Amino acid sequence: MKHLIAPSMLASDFGNLNAEVEMVNKSQADWFHLDVMDGVFVPNISFGIPIIKSIKKVANKPLDVHLMITDPDRYITKFKEVGADILTVHYEACNHLDRTIFTIKSQNMKAGVAINPHTSINLLEDVLGEVDLICIMSVNPGFGGQKFIERTYSKIEKLYKIKQKLNYDFLIQVDGGVDLNNTKKLVNVGADVLVAGSSVFKSENPLETIKKLKNT
Ligand code: DX5
Ligand code: ZN
Repeated sequence: MKHLIAPSMLASDFGNLNAEVEMVNKSQADWFHLDVMDGVFVPNISFGIPIIKSIKKVANKPLDVHLMITDPDRYITKFKEVGADILTVHYEACNHLDRTIFTIKSQNMKAGVAINPHTSINLLEDVLGEVDLICIMSVNPGFGGQKFIERTYSKIEKLYKIKQKLNYDFLIQVDGGVDLNNTKKLVNVGADVLVAGSSVFKSENPLETIKKLKNT
């Protein structure tokens, strides 16, 4: 499978949100990546349910919603109602992760689990058979535009090997500091979905950057 590109709208111009969504619509991107931050789980507040609802009205690609919030179970139904297609929660934010994954899937969304840079792949062993996506954070979550953490490559590689060995079909996503310089290596070690915020929206020609990320 060719890798997927999910531009992170966090880096887009919120004052021109419709135009930014239209740009992604006509690009070679595969999904919209939407970062929800609550100011508690991460030291920043981004946007929430009403903004996702507005994006859904214009978007012609799946919405990949990344919840950086504590106790996300409280909002699973709400995110379904406003159009989330893939809902990713943080391992570190859930007391009963197995139940959370089950609840997301029972509402006909794909279920993702994200892990922070300090969290080991080993801790995911008991949920790998249940999830549709594992998001490996390559920065400490909370902000766009941070530097890619180099040891992420070996985490992806390790997860990819487990996936192959046990014949799982979840997608491996990488999020944070992804750009044209690390794309090839990330795909080579096993990444299926690349999230890219600043490298797309702060570039001179976002359409062209997405094309390059997709075809590298
Ligand atoms: C970080 C978010 C990322 C972020 C990526 O907490 O989860 O999705 O928007 O932005 P860049 O690509 O700028 O690192
Ligand atoms: Zn994200």
